[in-house]
Amino acid sequence: MTMGSEPVSERPQTSTRDYDQLRDRLEAWVGGRVPGATVSELVVPESNGMSSETVLFDLSAPGSDTRRLVARIAPDPAADPVFPVYDMARQFETMRMVARHTRVPVPEVLWLEEGDEAIGVPFFVMERVDGVVPPDVLPYTFGDNWFFDAAPEDQHRLEREAVRVLAALHEIPAEGPAAFLAPSGGSGDPLRDHVDGQRRYYEWVARDGVRSPLIERGFDWIDEHWPAGSGGATFNWGDARIGNMLFRDFTPVAVLDWEMASVGPREIDLGWMVYLHRFFQDLVEDLGMPGMPHVFTRETVTRLYEEASGHSPQDLEFFCTYAALRHGIVMFRITRRAIRFGEAVMPVDPDEAILHHAHLRRMLDGRYW
Ligand SMILES: Nc1ncnc2c1ncn2[C@@H]1O[C@H](COP(=O)(O)OP(=O)(O)O)[C@@H](O)[C@H]1O
Ligand SMILES: [Mg+2]
Repeated sequence: MTMGSEPVSERPQTSTRDYDQLRDRLEAWVGGRVPGATVSELVVPESNGMSSETVLFDLSAPGSDTRRLVARIAPDPAADPVFPVYDMARQFETMRMVARHTRVPVPEVLWLEEGDEAIGVPFFVMERVDGVVPPDVLPYTFGDNWFFDAAPEDQHRLEREAVRVLAALHEIPAEGPAAFLAPSGGSGDPLRDHVDGQRRYYEWVARDGVRSPLIERGFDWIDEHWPAGSGGATFNWGDARIGNMLFRDFTPVAVLDWEMASVGPREIDLGWMVYLHRFFQDLVEDLGMPGMPHVFTRETVTRLYEEASGHSPQDLEFFCTYAALRHGIVMFRITRRAIRFGEAVMPVDPDEAILHHAHLRRMLDGRYW
C-alpha cells in the first residue's frame, strides 16, 4: 500500500491488535506446518504501511536453525480498510510468479492461510530480508535519513537499480503467467480496464455520498487525454516505488507490497514511480525546502528505463497525472478513514481531503510541469 505522509495525524492509528494473542495463535498455526515450532515475540516494522499489517518474528523448531520470518496480514474488515478487497492468495501467487519468472529479488513466500480461523483474517508468511527502506514518515525528501544523506552517485545508483527492477518486471508479459491478474470480463483494452477499475474504486470510496469534484474532473481529463497508441500491456508491480523496496548498498534486495499488482501498459508503473517521488518532493518544496529534485525526474527515469529495457516510455505526462489521480483517491479514502477514527475532520471543500489537491489541480490545468 501507499504511505500516508504529512500530516502525521492522518496516518491511521487503527491497530488494536493484541500482539501477545496474535503470537499465540500464529504459533498454534505454524505448529501445523513445523511441528514443535515456537514463535518469538512479534515486532512491528518501523516502516509499517497503512493498509495491510506486517509483523516480524523468529521461528524456532527442534533440530533446525531459527528462521527469520514475516507475516503479512489482511486488515480487519471492521477497521475500515483502505481497499475494498484484500486478496492474500493473489499477492502470494504474484510473489511466487515473479520469483519464478524474473531475477527480481522477492522474499520467498512459505505459507498462505486463506481462512479466518487461524488468526481472524487471512495472511501469509515469507522469509525476512535484511535491508533498509527510504522512509515514508517523514518522507525521505525531508532529510535526515540514509537516502537523503547519501553521496549523489549512490543516490543515482539507487535510482538506476530501482528503474531496472521495473524493466525486469515488465519482461513478464500480460498473458501467460500473469494472466490471472487481468480482470475477468475486461474490455480487452488493458488501460481501459485499469482506469475502469479505478473508477469503481472511487465509487466505492464515495459510496456514502461525499464526492470529490477534483477526482471526477481527473477522470474526465484522463478520457480527454487518452494516449493515442497503446504500447501493449505487461505485468505491473502496482505500488511501484522505492518505499516498497528493501535496499542494501543502494541496490534492491527485496521488492515488497504486491497488493496493487495488475497487467497494463508499463507506463502505469513508471508514472507511479515518478509521481510518488514528486508527491514527496512537492510536500517538502511547499515548505520552502529543497528536497531531492535531482532524482526520479521524468527525463532520468525515461533514459534509465530505455537503457535497461530497450523500450521508450510513451506519454509519461499522462501516466504521471493518472498516478496523481489514483493517489488522490487513496488519499481521499485515508482522510475519510482518519475522520471516522476521530483523527481528522472533513474539510468544507471535500477536495481538501486530498493532501496534494493543489498540485493535482495544476496538473489538470496544464500548469504543473
Ligand atoms: N520480507 C520482508 N523482510 C523484511 N522486512 C519486511 C518484509 N516484508 C515487509 N517488511 C517490512 O514491513 C514494511 C511494510 O511492508 P510492505 O510490504 O511495504 O507493506 P505495507 O502494505 O504495510 O506498506 C516494509 O517497509 C519492511 O520494513
Ligand atoms: Mg508498503
